Amino acid sequence: MTGAKTYFVTTAIDYVNNLPHIGTAYEKICADVIARFKRLEGEPVFFLMGNDEHSINVKREAQARGLEPHAYCDQMADQFRQIWKSLGISYDAFIRTTEERHAEAVSKLFQRIYENGDIYPSKYSGLYCESCEAFYREKDLADGKCPQHGSEPKWIEEDNYFFALSRYTEKILKIIEEKRLLILPEIRKNEIMNILHGGLEDISISRSSFDWGIPLPIQPDHVIYVWFDALINYISAIGFGWDEDLFPQFWPADMHIVGKDITRFHCIIWPAMLLSAGLEVPRMVFGHGFVSLKGEKMSKTLGNVVTPMDIVDVYGPDALRYYLLRDSSFGKDGNFTWENFLERYNGDLANDFGNLLQRVLTMIRRYRSGTIPTPHTLKEEDEALKKDCLALCSDVRTFLDPTRGGDVDFHLALARLWETIRHTNQYIDHTAPWTLQKEGAEERLDTVLSSAAESLRIIGAVLSPFLPDAASGLFEQLGLPDRPDKLTPEAPTTWGQIPAGTKVRKPKPLFPRIVPEEEGSDPPGKPKPKKKEPGKKEGEEVTIDQFDRFDLRAGRILEAERVPNTEKLLKLTVDIGEKRTIVASIGKAFAPEALLERTVVVIANLKSVRIRGILSEGMLLAAGTDEALSLVTLSGQVAPGEKIR
Ligand code: MSP
Repeated sequence: MTGAKTYFVTTAIDYVNNLPHIGTAYEKICADVIARFKRLEGEPVFFLMGNDEHSINVKREAQARGLEPHAYCDQMADQFRQIWKSLGISYDAFIRTTEERHAEAVSKLFQRIYENGDIYPSKYSGLYCESCEAFYREKDLADGKCPQHGSEPKWIEEDNYFFALSRYTEKILKIIEEKRLLILPEIRKNEIMNILHGGLEDISISRSSFDWGIPLPIQPDHVIYVWFDALINYISAIGFGWDEDLFPQFWPADMHIVGKDITRFHCIIWPAMLLSAGLEVPRMVFGHGFVSLKGEKMSKTLGNVVTPMDIVDVYGPDALRYYLLRDSSFGKDGNFTWENFLERYNGDLANDFGNLLQRVLTMIRRYRSGTIPTPHTLKEEDEALKKDCLALCSDVRTFLDPTRGGDVDFHLALARLWETIRHTNQYIDHTAPWTLQKEGAEERLDTVLSSAAESLRIIGAVLSPFLPDAASGLFEQLGLPDRPDKLTPEAPTTWGQIPAGTKVRKPKPLFPRIVPEEEGSDPPGKPKPKKKEPGKKEGEEVTIDQFDRFDLRAGRILEAERVPNTEKLLKLTVDIGEKRTIVASIGKAFAPEALLERTVVVIANLKSVRIRGILSEGMLLAAGTDEALSLVTLSGQVAPGEKIR
């Protein structure tokens, strides 16, 4: 590698005691857009993600599953990677804190800080929140509880080693004031400045009461505090401690993207560690907002976690990407509701965007036998569309590049893209190709159809960092050789790039409209019909662990009745070791009384949904069409509630 420094963008590394939810996915999607946009503009990019494995909660979760922590972390890493892949996250490297290269970097950085005289032994006694993996001062608690998790911190007393963080207060203030470390958005910067103005205290950086972690080089019966360990991932992944030539090609990081809850670790402790070791500080930390569910924090205990795969399996990755990017402002908190999700999906994706592609392709096929025509002289309205398209990429960039003074705002970037999408729809309404066809205005029709196609090509190019699958589908259906990850920087900034004689394909909806099955029911979590992507989702391999996540049980049907005013809904009471109400769409094939005493297979841990006001707590397995349906039933002596493996 030569020349310009590679743009280095990172996300937080995730604790692996839980699988990703849409909040953690949000962060990865945002970083992915930044990385893809930079690549689109021809900049060399290195996009790093990873897993944070040395947490006490990770060890506990492994123990609860009867696994050795390393084996558990291996399994989780596979699952995380698979989920990120399904979301189209284009990371270049994935670091795990249990890797050897990471341990080497941690030891080396520790040694440098130690040699600089910033590490000393002392006794720690105080409060510790195991969910944050953070030490708390009494005055920082809310009613004696952790302000992040609402749980009571533990009192711990240990012989620890300390890092002399207090020595760095002034230095950090200075680098922030001089904008050598940019903190965005402003509200996060203010929080950090307040902490700094209050003065910093030294922090404990080792733990002596447990052994899951990297041994302290100077006292191997201690392990390094998980945050001190985790922050070093940003340099261990790029050669620090194991490839000194590689390291300067990437460091300093251009953008650390992290949640608002952990901005202080990145803007205070991390720069202090780097300064002590004589390394450069990151150029920017962006502390994004939280995605919550109907205003509530998502958590396993509240049982309200929406996983990315709940959405991706049904609607495809771009629907989730679009919603998360479009519906909240990056620096602020956002909210997920299925209602808003469906509205955006049907309105923005299926209607505005999907329809535009569909109608342009249909007209090219109908009026020009599927070949995109060559344009003639452009008129004012064509010029206006061209101008809009040519400004699109640089307009979108202004919302993604905070070094220009603004914040990063994905929702504004997408709003700008949708302006051009709507403009192109209006252009078609206004130029009315169907009338031009009727009137025999052949040259004008050529120009209008080719301009609309050209506009779609540019929209596809600029959209590709946000919705890579949809962009790919758009290029494919337009018959273009372009692939979203192989575009040249000129692709979105030059007009008239469609090769002569390009043949479009038969239109296929990129975002098929989703109508909830039963009118009046809540938008379903997993509506049918399931989006099928031949060769992609179907036939995809799953691991035994993924299969194990389905709690399949034998269920005996005790009661069955029709749900009033519906054709195919039956309300069943099923014994699966406990009584469950299940609303099943099987009423066209079965009379309620025919189902009594049958032993069926129930997915017992399916997320509950309210259908026609009835809470349905599971699903039966069946095959066939609505009218000719076969239920999966069990023969022989199987007790209700028996686990099916
Ligand atoms: N392991 C630490 C980070 C170490 S980085 C050196 C950690 N892990 S985490 O799994 O709890 O969180 C990972 C990231 O997801 C963090 O940036 C966190 O702020 C973010 N989010 C966690 N919940 C979130 C939402 N509900 N919404 C948006 N981001 C969320 O912290």
